[in-house]
Parts: sequence; C-alpha cells; structure tokens
Amino acid sequence: MCGIVGYIGPEDAAPILHKALLRLEYRGYDSAGVATLSNGRLYVKKDQGKIEEIHKRLNLDDLPGNVGIGHTRWATHGAPSKINAHPHTDCTETIAVVHNGVIENFIELRRELLDLDHSLISKTDTEIIAHLVEESIKRGAEPETAFLDAISRLRGSYAVAMIIASNPDAIYVARNEAPLAIGVGEGFNLVSSDANAFLEYTQKAVFLHNGEAAIIRRDGYRIIKLGTRSEVSRSPTLIPWAVSMSRKGEYEHYMLKEIYEQPNALRNVLHLQQIYVDLLAELIDRGRDIFLLGAGTSYNACMAGSYIFSKIARTSTYPVIASEFIDNYGSSISADTVILAVSQSGETADVLNALEYARLRAATILGITNTVGSTLTRISRAYIVQNSGPEIGVAATKTFTSQVLVLAQLALRLARLKGKLAQYEMDELYETLHSIPSIAEKVVNSTDGKMREIAENLMNSSSFFFLGRGISYSTALEARLKVMELSYIPSIAYPAGESKHGPISVIEKSYPVFFIVPRDESRKQNIGNIMEMKARGARIISVASEDDDEVRELSDYFVGMPDINPLLSPIIYAIPFQFLAYHLAVLKGYDPDKPRNLAKSVTVL
Ligand code: AGP
Repeated sequence: MCGIVGYIGPEDAAPILHKALLRLEYRGYDSAGVATLSNGRLYVKKDQGKIEEIHKRLNLDDLPGNVGIGHTRWATHGAPSKINAHPHTDCTETIAVVHNGVIENFIELRRELLDLDHSLISKTDTEIIAHLVEESIKRGAEPETAFLDAISRLRGSYAVAMIIASNPDAIYVARNEAPLAIGVGEGFNLVSSDANAFLEYTQKAVFLHNGEAAIIRRDGYRIIKLGTRSEVSRSPTLIPWAVSMSRKGEYEHYMLKEIYEQPNALRNVLHLQQIYVDLLAELIDRGRDIFLLGAGTSYNACMAGSYIFSKIARTSTYPVIASEFIDNYGSSISADTVILAVSQSGETADVLNALEYARLRAATILGITNTVGSTLTRISRAYIVQNSGPEIGVAATKTFTSQVLVLAQLALRLARLKGKLAQYEMDELYETLHSIPSIAEKVVNSTDGKMREIAENLMNSSSFFFLGRGISYSTALEARLKVMELSYIPSIAYPAGESKHGPISVIEKSYPVFFIVPRDESRKQNIGNIMEMKARGARIISVASEDDDEVRELSDYFVGMPDINPLLSPIIYAIPFQFLAYHLAVLKGYDPDKPRNLAKSVTVL
C-alpha cells in the first residue's frame, strides 16, 4: 500500500506535503515524490529511496506554489525506481497524479492510450490516469468532467489525487476500496490516505466512501458520486487522536498496526490482476509435480495452500521447506516440475537457492510475493504481488493471511480450469472468499483483549503445545512460530492425531495446550484429543467456532470464532495467535517489532 497527500491553501505546499509524507512512511518507503503548481506551471521532484534520503538529494521543500500532491510508495506495479515513483504526469506535463491501490484493467487502458500515441514511460498502473484526463481535456472536456470520466473507467482499488495546471484552484480526488480522507481547515484543506498525516493542521476530517470523488478548493470541497455524478453533502468528523499518536498511526508497535490492517490488506488481495491469477493457474495445471516452497511463515502458508489445492482443485501439491528442497527433491526435478515459491520479501536466500537449482533443471518457477522488483519477481516465469502493503514488524502477520488468500484464489481458478467444481460450488467459494475481509474485521476487533488476558495468565509458561488437524495443522504451525519468535518460549506444534504417538509424554499438570478446532470433519477427533490432554492435567485453550458449546465446556480458556469455510480457516484463526504472540512479547518486555536474532528478510543461507 502507498501513502498519498495533498494541500491547497495560503502556505507554500511543498514543506507541508513533505512533512505529511513522513507521517505516512510506514505505508511504503521505496520511493517518494511531490508535485506543485505555480503560475500555470507544474513542478515535480521524485526519486527512489526513503523520503529523507530523497529530501537530502533534491530538497522536497523547494518547489513553488500553494497547491500540491505527494506520494510515498510501496511498489505494486513496476520495480522501485525514479521513473516508477509518483507523482506521474501526462504527455504535456501539466497534469500530475498520485495513487494508492491496484487498477485491475490498466493493461487495456494502457493499450488504448498507446494506440492514441500517448507516451507512457513508467511500468506503473497509475500513470495511465494522467493520460486519460489529458486525452479527455484534449477532446474538449472541462478538467472536472475529464477527471470524473477518467476515474469512472478504472476498475479495482484506488485512492487518487490529481492537480491540473489549467485549474490551479483545485485538487481532484477519488477513492474505491483504498482509504482517503479530507482534512478540513480554515481557508485551507488537505487530503491524505490516513488522517494522521494532517492532524497537526486540523482534526476535522471527511472520509470519502467507495465510488466517490471530491473537488477540493482552499475554501471548501464538493463530494460527487461517480455513478450518478450527484453531489453528496457530508460534514467533517472530529479525529480524537493527538498528533503524538500518529507515529505508527494510533498503535504502539508496527506489528499491532499490521494485525489491525489485515481486513484492508485482504481487500487488496481480492483485487489481484486476474490475468496473472489465470496465468499461474494455467502453468500449475501443466505441471506433473507441483511444489509449494517457502520458509518460516511463508512455508506455513504453503502448508495451508496444499490442503486448499487438494480440496478445491483436487490437485496434489508438495509443501516444502525451502532449505530442505534440494536434498529431498533435487534429483526428481524435470521440465514437468512446477515450483510456486511464496516469499513476502522475495529475497529469502533459502528460497532463491532452491529456485536457482530447479531453474537450471528446466522447472517452471512461479512466485507469490509482497515485494515488487524483488529477486523472486525477476526469476519467476510469472508471479503475483499480494499487495499487503509494507510489513515493517519482523513477524509476518498480514502477509501470512494475504498469502493464504492468494493461494485460495489460485486453487479456485485451477478448479475452474480442471472442471473440478460445479458452478454453484464455485459461486459459493467465490462468495466465501469475498466475505473474508469482513470476517477478519470482526475477529480483529473481538480477540485482542481476550488474547491479552490469556497472555497475562500464561506468560510464565516454560513451553506451549499447539494442536490442529487437517488444514488446522498449518494454523498450529503458524501459531507456534509467532509465539516462539516473539516471546522466546519454546513451543511445539503437532497434528492433533499425532500427539498420542509420543509428544503427550510432555504433558504434566497445568501444561498449556492450544487446540484449533473449526467446525470441520475432524472436530470429533479433536474433542477426543482434548479429553486425552485433560485426563493428564493439561490446561486447554481452544480457538473454535463461537457456538461450539461442547468445546467451550471442555476448555479452560475459550476463544470463539465466526463460522467460516474450514478451508479458509487459517486466515481467520491465525489472528488470535498473532495477538497472543504480540501481548506475550510486550508483557515480557520484548520489542515485538524487532525480536532478538531475527531479520525481516533472511538473505543468507
Ligand atoms: C515470520 O514471522 C518470520 N519473520 C520468518 O519466518 C519469515 O516468514 C521467513 O523468513 C520467510 O520470509 P519471506 O516470506 O520474506 O520469504
């Protein structure tokens, strides 16, 4: 995700935009830029790198004019570079645009503009917006109409801000799925992806809704519904946050913010470029041996993905720990091998090493990553960028749930290709996938306090057990990894059915055992395992369907979850364990954003 800002008022715009961008840097930090208007001219400064690095090089405060826009980027289309940095301009360099989101139909719009001899110089989807407006003005439309017409053609998620030299008294903005707020001042106005960016100027904010645009002037704003072009009146709300809280939004740590960001991150994932989902599904369909390869949390996502591919697409895949791949499967690789590598950073050395070995043996390399321009995107035959936005906390949270949702979309596409599901089954699964962000919203808003209470009670434990069956074993693995890497408490994750073949000897009175029990076909056996553990004095902490009274009765602590298709349960059931890990770290006095011995991306073998 990226951060966009805008200012129009009596002051010089550039210094205000620069400061506001710093408040948004957590949203993306691979490139940044500012554009202002003065005396009918457009001025743009932008580059690759963090905001302050660019400021040192280019002085982002030194642009004339009292209307402008700015952007800090987390690349989704086009690698991090100066040419791909925002703001983007049109051919005449009199229109500048910044954008957060993913335009799903940008390829067809890009083709249309190229056929009209527009020169599109970047690899981004954003650039086309400036040229669509330019084309419309060229054909006689007024700037406002040209903007509304252009935005109406976009499909996907966007928060857009634009300035047009021929009309320096306005900033043109619009939003769909990506957040955008107007900061309402006295004789000035701002706009931002996140109200935190303008809190020091005004605490009055107007939040645009999906499918709305606004024309912002220094003395007011007009909100327009894109569909009907009718005007909407909306009064500002007061933001009750002090400026000081805006360092990481209102969160104490990035990790907590990223846990709470998951509903939005999951919405982004539902706006993937469908041509790439199709392409990956086709390439997977051609494979004889299909490996899902990852490390750490990404491997846990592969475990979940393997269950989903099996159940939805009736396709067997091998989830493999990247560092084990060559030893275990190196000799079986051939041109019929497909490897789908999952890596948030796209730079994990274990993953890249395995892929290089496989590539030299003619395997087809595919990728799922959160980082455009990463090595994984360069060596993949095709890849999907999951658009989770920057994940600054070392522990993967929103990127894990996003990865599983990407894999589920791929599995559904593969099922359609193979004709494995009836239309009604595909429709039901499609509906379920699209309900995930709102279910995640419910869980994020209901389990934080509960997990803090459990963390307070268990923080002095010497070890934990995490047990699940079927796809919930992948959730148990992820729960164990989160808790271990953040609280430093040794933890064990096992398929629940396996626990009686040895591990149960670890159990003694009050030993904490977590059970993950969605309402699926293995629920009855899970209840049997809970009884076995209880019989040996274990303390039972169950994360189960909220209406499962039988499990609730058997548990010392019970965390109720909304009903969900068990095949997608890791996306939702992982969330309480993220909170558990976070609170254990904080209660034990550790930094949840920077756990000891760990790095966000492990680029050494
Ligand atoms: C997850 O919380 C850890 N930070 C770590 O296991 C991570 O998932 C692993 O290093 C893989 O990273 P990647 O997704 O960038 O490849």
